[in-house]
Amino acid sequence: MRLPEPVKPVFLAEIDSTNDEAKRRVASGSAAHGLVIRADIQTKGRGRFDRKWVSEKGNLYTSLLINIISDPNYAQLSFVIALAIAHALSKHLQGVQLKWPNDVLLNTKKVAGILLEREGDYLVIGFGVNCAHAPTHTQYPATCLAHENCMLEPAALLQEILACFWDLYAEWQQNGFALVRTQWLALAKGVGEKLRVQQGNGYLEGIFVDLDARDGRLILKKEDGSLVHLSAGDVYF
Ligand code: BTN
Repeated sequence: MRLPEPVKPVFLAEIDSTNDEAKRRVASGSAAHGLVIRADIQTKGRGRFDRKWVSEKGNLYTSLLINIISDPNYAQLSFVIALAIAHALSKHLQGVQLKWPNDVLLNTKKVAGILLEREGDYLVIGFGVNCAHAPTHTQYPATCLAHENCMLEPAALLQEILACFWDLYAEWQQNGFALVRTQWLALAKGVGEKLRVQQGNGYLEGIFVDLDARDGRLILKKEDGSLVHLSAGDVYF
C-alpha cells in the first residue's frame, strides 16, 4: 500500500470518542487510509475492556485509520503504535517503557493507552497520552508528562508520534514484525521477570520469557515449567 502524504489531522473540540467518530466515518464511506482525528475533549472516551478513559482538556486523544485489507497480521500494529509513542516521548524524557500488551509507561506509571478496534476494511488505532493530567485511583498507577516537568502540547506531540509511526509502519509493511518486535522487547518492562496477568476474575503467574513472533502474544513460563501464550489480560509486576 502506498504511504499517504502527511494529512492534517481532523480536529474536533469535543466528541464522544475519537474511535467512535472514526468508525462512523468508515461506515458512511467518508474515511480514508491515514485519516487522523484528534479531539480536545471526549465525553465517552473508552479504554480496553470498555473501561472509561477520562478525557478532559489538556491530554492527547487521537484515532488513526489504517486500511488493513491486505494485512492479515494487522493486530501487530498495536506494537507499532506503542513503539511510535515510546520513541516520540523518549526524545523528551528518560524512563519510557512499554507494558504488554499496549501501554506506555513513564517511570513505571502508565502515561499512554491504546485501543484497537476493527471497522470494515480499517483498523481504528485509538491512543491517549496523558500530557497535562493523569487520572487518580486507577487500577494501574497513572502519570502525565507535566508531572515529570515535560510540557508538550497535544497537537505537537501528535505530529511527533505520527512521524515515528509512519517510519515504523513502512518498516513493518516491508519486512514484517521482526524489527518492531525486537525494539518493543528492548523497551518492555518485566522481560525475564516474574509477573502476574489478570484475566477476568482469575490470574496467571510466571516469568515473562518472550513475545510470540507471529502474533505478539505474551509467553509466560509457569512454575511447573510449562509455557502459555496469552492474547489478553492486565499485567502487574
Ligand atoms: C487503554 O489503555 O485502556 C486504552 C485507552 C485508549 C484511549 C484512547 S483516547 C482516543 C481513543 N478514543 C477512545 O475512546 N479511546 C481511545
